[in-house]
Amino acid sequence: MKQKLEDIQQKLHEYKINSSEDLENFRLKYLSRKGLMNDLFEEFKQVPNEMKRDLGKLMNVVKTSVQAKFDEAAEKFKTDKRGNNNQNIDYTLPADLTELGSRHPLNITENQIVAIFNKLGFTMAEGPEIENDWHNFSALNFPPNHPARDMQDTFFIDEEIALRTHTSSVQVRLMQQKNPPLRAIMPGRVYRNEAISARANCFFHQIEGIYIDEKVSFADLKQTLYAFVKDMFGDDVEVRFRPSYFPFTEPSAEMDISCQICKGKGCNICKHSGWVEILGCGMIDPNVLENCGIDSEKYTGFAFGMGIERITMLKYDVKDLRTFFINDTRFLKQFSNV
Ligand code: DAH
Repeated sequence: MKQKLEDIQQKLHEYKINSSEDLENFRLKYLSRKGLMNDLFEEFKQVPNEMKRDLGKLMNVVKTSVQAKFDEAAEKFKTDKRGNNNQNIDYTLPADLTELGSRHPLNITENQIVAIFNKLGFTMAEGPEIENDWHNFSALNFPPNHPARDMQDTFFIDEEIALRTHTSSVQVRLMQQKNPPLRAIMPGRVYRNEAISARANCFFHQIEGIYIDEKVSFADLKQTLYAFVKDMFGDDVEVRFRPSYFPFTEPSAEMDISCQICKGKGCNICKHSGWVEILGCGMIDPNVLENCGIDSEKYTGFAFGMGIERITMLKYDVKDLRTFFINDTRFLKQFSNV
């Protein structure tokens, strides 16, 4: 038996494994159930006890060498489920490029706006997209059948429930939940039954903001919004306020900034006026404060609301709002390193 083991050890060195077939033959010859190693183990059982120690050692050495030779060759010639083995791989081929995703431009803008207002002490709040009439309209001073409700074409689910037409509904929820002082911004998706065009979509995104405390004034509103646009668009942006009307603010205004595309010279985006409107704002109407359980004798506040699409279009010179929703990667890729 000792001779047999030494023979195997000897032949092992000469045994050439050059393919996966050779490898399989090697396995069958030495390592399978009917292979040489198993036969020897059977034979070993018959060996007289006094010889077991030495022979056992030798058996282990041989078995380890056989297994090592097999493992080494298996590494080279093992096949995968499709029958390919490593030898078929061309290591000089360029690797497949993994395409990394990137943030959506609307997301980039929203994060930027949120970060700026965070610096100014505003926290963030969110509310539901499916909203009842009271939060979307009544609490905000839109009386029933008031023509102001037609300012926004609403998707109704039933008489009471609709898809929110603006994020102003979230300020109502916030005022109901928390006591002043309140300083928060509320981003989210809103829905309107509008014909889809380069300037409008049936859903889009807004950011609402409120600041309520004792003695909050229109000057605070202006200062806050100045600070925001300068951070967002740069120090040389110009700002103007125009009187406007919203049922939930009094007085109300719209804020324009100098057109970022033509720098005020006049272009299609600003309809050759040099100015573009970016948000609505005003002092929160005392009725709204009272509707939400806030003492309007003690507290005043301002509110504003802006469209994220509009800001993104101005910031990155995007001319058609629909490009935000088509998900054409050629468009989206341009924002991958913003
Ligand atoms: N909710 C208005 C809209 O969707 C925007 C707005 C205007 C929000 C004035 C406000 C505000 O908070 O004070 O057109």
